[in-house]
Amino acid sequence: MAWLLTRAYCPRALPWASRCLCGLMKVRSWSQGPLTAYMPEAASFPGARDHQSLYKTSVEQGDAFWGMLARSRLTWITPFHSIQDCDLRQGRAAWFLGGQLNVAVNCLDRHVHVAPDKVALIWEKDEPGEEVRVTYRELLEMTCRLSNTLKRLGVKRGDRVTIYMPPCPLAVASMLACARIGAVHAVVFAGFSAESLADRIRDAQSETVITVNQGLRGGKVVELKKTVDQAVKQCPGVKRVLVSMRTDNQLPMTALDVLLEEYVFDYQDRDVFGCVADIGWITGHSYVVYGPLCNGGTTVLFESTPVHPNPGRYWETVERLKINQFYGAPTAIRLLLRYGDEWVKKYDRSSLKVLGSVGEPINKEAWEWYFRVVGETRCPVVDTWWQTETGGICISPRPSNPGDEILPGMAMRPFFGISPSVLDDKGNVLLGNNVSGALCISQAWPGMARTIYNDHKRFVETYLAPYPGFFFTGDGVYRTSEGYYQLTGRLDDIINISGHRLGTAEMEDVVNHHVAVAESAVIGYPHEIKGEGAYVFIVLKKDSKYMEETLAAELRELISKKIAKYAVPEYIQVTHRLPKTRSGKIMRRVLRKIVENKASELGDLTTLDDHDAVQQIIEGHKHLVERQKSC
Ligand code: WTA
Repeated sequence: MAWLLTRAYCPRALPWASRCLCGLMKVRSWSQGPLTAYMPEAASFPGARDHQSLYKTSVEQGDAFWGMLARSRLTWITPFHSIQDCDLRQGRAAWFLGGQLNVAVNCLDRHVHVAPDKVALIWEKDEPGEEVRVTYRELLEMTCRLSNTLKRLGVKRGDRVTIYMPPCPLAVASMLACARIGAVHAVVFAGFSAESLADRIRDAQSETVITVNQGLRGGKVVELKKTVDQAVKQCPGVKRVLVSMRTDNQLPMTALDVLLEEYVFDYQDRDVFGCVADIGWITGHSYVVYGPLCNGGTTVLFESTPVHPNPGRYWETVERLKINQFYGAPTAIRLLLRYGDEWVKKYDRSSLKVLGSVGEPINKEAWEWYFRVVGETRCPVVDTWWQTETGGICISPRPSNPGDEILPGMAMRPFFGISPSVLDDKGNVLLGNNVSGALCISQAWPGMARTIYNDHKRFVETYLAPYPGFFFTGDGVYRTSEGYYQLTGRLDDIINISGHRLGTAEMEDVVNHHVAVAESAVIGYPHEIKGEGAYVFIVLKKDSKYMEETLAAELRELISKKIAKYAVPEYIQVTHRLPKTRSGKIMRRVLRKIVENKASELGDLTTLDDHDAVQQIIEGHKHLVERQKSC
């Protein structure tokens, strides 16, 4: 609960309203009025008349800034006695000491008080035109009922509850019900396999799982309950599985199952925030559930895919639900761009004010299309950089600031309270502009992760130890000659497939389990639609009689089963050896250059132990790519 509460304190509460509602670019003004119109608190800082001076205040007088927002925007059970006690060198980040709040109260009760019939959620179901609207009062009732069910079943404060559900009102109510009673929710993306789900249930030592009988996605039935049943077989600690009926299909019940009843919704027409991320990822947590609800907004729960029943789905939804802010991922934009402008132009998008992008760098072509075709050059595009660990948006254009320009494919400027630094690999802070290096944040902020559940040591080693005194993001960044920030991709062994983060080690682990595999290396490569794809290099065991095609098919199946469908690699290359240093480390940068088709830029190979291996891999890569193309 501590994690959940503290992560939900302030950054979720304040940025949504201020980040997403406004606009002005160099070429055209989107300003929605003075700063104080949407951030009245700015008035209490005499010098802060515009974004720039308020940003300065937020960094230089952080305590006063966050303290003021925390008091004005949140309801506290016990007021805090001090704003923060943070020391990144010591691995300490504590905010709002002595204070106690409940995030569910801030998301629901606070608003039910003033506008009970305002629509909180619009559930955009898989089939277009079947949307369901849930008011704040209904969501509170649903949440309270579920909290009581959880309590009755023995779930207590501090217990972990795994939620394996597609975006639907009950999933949001489940998150809020956990928060309400002080349980910790672990939402597992409902695309994950039984194995991945089981890993997560065991890791969290979760005794309770909440799911639905079946999901519907892109017109297809997804057997979620069956996946849960398989996962639970490997998790003896699970004591109960709460099942809600998303479809009419009656499934055989197990001894652990508890059926949840359905609810009734009414209809209310209001402005809407349309973030189409799944609730199983951080974007869904912060910008579908907690951010919009804490701010009393109306939020869309998108259950479907961008191409179901056709590639006009997003824009048809925008027209029908009158979405004002649309927040999506570059991978979807790139996919839709390929289908042409007609699918967009068919629908009325006049309700749109701001278009957001998140999850990975957005290339210029996709940015331009989003801006010109989708937004008719009327809506600013905000390329928002942040990550699970930061809790909310950290670097992003602020289109409301008069005079601010927005350039394609750039997250541009730090948001309130965020002090980005660029560091070289020796840990020196690179001052001035036109520099690239590791993106670090030099000052604590309330939304940051403070620990890894049950593993504080790992938290310190991963985020604070690499650059003492700084929070290390794992991303590379370029500060342009104008002082803007442009993200350049991950510096570690993480790949980002369609905006979903995956450790290459996790995939290698799965691949290495195959009987024929002696060794493997998984490398990310640029992919036109997905942003990055996984490229798998395999060394076979000496006695292996496997045909390459059979092996590739089995490995794909294994990855789909053990990790998720989205992770299935397009390229699997069998090779005799992997390039290694004399000390036995795989030279991933060499493999990376090869899969990026930059074999002529392999750089310094003095530590390489076998030059022939590299030549063979380059040849093998060429053949594989040609073969794949001709298929
Ligand atoms: C990447 C998603 C470039 C980055 C909110 C980060 C981005 C990781 C952007 C976090 C962006 C996210 N431009 N890269 N606008 N937004 N990323 O934790 O590598 O799923 O570290 O959070 O996505 O992914 P996560």
